[in-house]
Amino acid sequence: MSHTARPEGLSGHTAKRAVVTGGAGFVGSHLCRALLAAGDSVVCVDNLSTGRLRNIADLLDHRRFTFLDADIVEPFSVSDQVDLVLHLACPASPPDYFRMPVATLRAGGHGTYNALCLARDTGARFVITSTSEVYGDPLVHPQREDYWGNVNPVGPRACYDESKRFSEALTVAFRDEYGVDTGIARLFNSYGPDMRDDDGRVVPTFIKQALAGKPLTVMGDGSQTRSLCYVSDTVRGILALARSCETSPVNIGNPHEITMRELAEYVLGLTGGHSPVHYVEARPDDPQRRRPDIGRARRVLDWEPEVRLFDGLKETIAAFALAGDLSAV
Ligand SMILES: NC(=O)c1ccc[n+]([C@@H]2O[C@H](COP(=O)([O-])OP(=O)(O)OC[C@H]3O[C@@H](n4cnc5c(N)ncnc54)[C@H](O)[C@@H]3O)[C@@H](O)[C@H]2O)c1
Repeated sequence: MSHTARPEGLSGHTAKRAVVTGGAGFVGSHLCRALLAAGDSVVCVDNLSTGRLRNIADLLDHRRFTFLDADIVEPFSVSDQVDLVLHLACPASPPDYFRMPVATLRAGGHGTYNALCLARDTGARFVITSTSEVYGDPLVHPQREDYWGNVNPVGPRACYDESKRFSEALTVAFRDEYGVDTGIARLFNSYGPDMRDDDGRVVPTFIKQALAGKPLTVMGDGSQTRSLCYVSDTVRGILALARSCETSPVNIGNPHEITMRELAEYVLGLTGGHSPVHYVEARPDDPQRRRPDIGRARRVLDWEPEVRLFDGLKETIAAFALAGDLSAV
């Protein structure tokens, strides 16, 4: 049990009604499912801009699940009691936020403001899913929460990085000025079933290509690293933070670091594919190294990832193969 866990009666399953913004997205839909499995009620608020109804299709008839089709950039209200606001709504994959930079900044600005107002007005705990992108292209390695980052404020990724940095600052301001009970989860790359195969992130891209027998497109020389966290671990980390009293940012990610070249080989091995690997131009400002220091998460949340890359990739490949949604290849 974490030493920052809430006392009995306020922790764990007492968050009886949770609002999940971005609940129809990749991480959000897994989070909604985990909350329902724990006995909580869920109001999922999503405008389906990068998420999909299909991610929550199995939840729509659940008696403790409500879907609210709304853009959180506009003020929104949720009737009755709210115990927890889990704020995920924001485009999160590079092709998505390159396509909608203003919407991404507005999600972090107006959207985070509206989600924080809901928490303030209902007395709910508020947890935002921030990102390792707040560290930018980091100059220290691995990244600890007290590292301030190396972000290009006018680069192509700025719409996302600065959106999240602003969100964090706004979260802290609501805590200071209004006493809102807040938490900040800094997620590092998460992967798993229900990612869109066209969302441009590396795991679905490689899997889609390998299953279709197409070349795997590795950016740059493939020596850049990522640390990939299976979605069930990510969700467990978010919930551990939500059920704690922790107020400082907490890295939620898997410290196991892998180069993109190794990942491509891994995916080919697991799919049994024989596609060649093609090296393509890297995205501008693509971070070279990413690896979380999860000392704080271990200490204050008693959390660490449990799913090995091998097992997580196997599950994800199986889900993609089942979905068989290869028409866009
Ligand atoms: N998946 C990761 O690896 C990762 C890493 C770091 C941080 N995060 C953060 O976790 C959260 C979820 O990411 P994801 O990977 O599930 O992305 P996603 O794109 O699958 O989900 C985001 C969801 O938010 C919704 N949304 C976007 N703008 C909205 C708006 N204005 N109003 C209402 N709904 C809106 C989308 O429709 C989508 O369902 C994001 O905040 C992201 O920044 C994710």
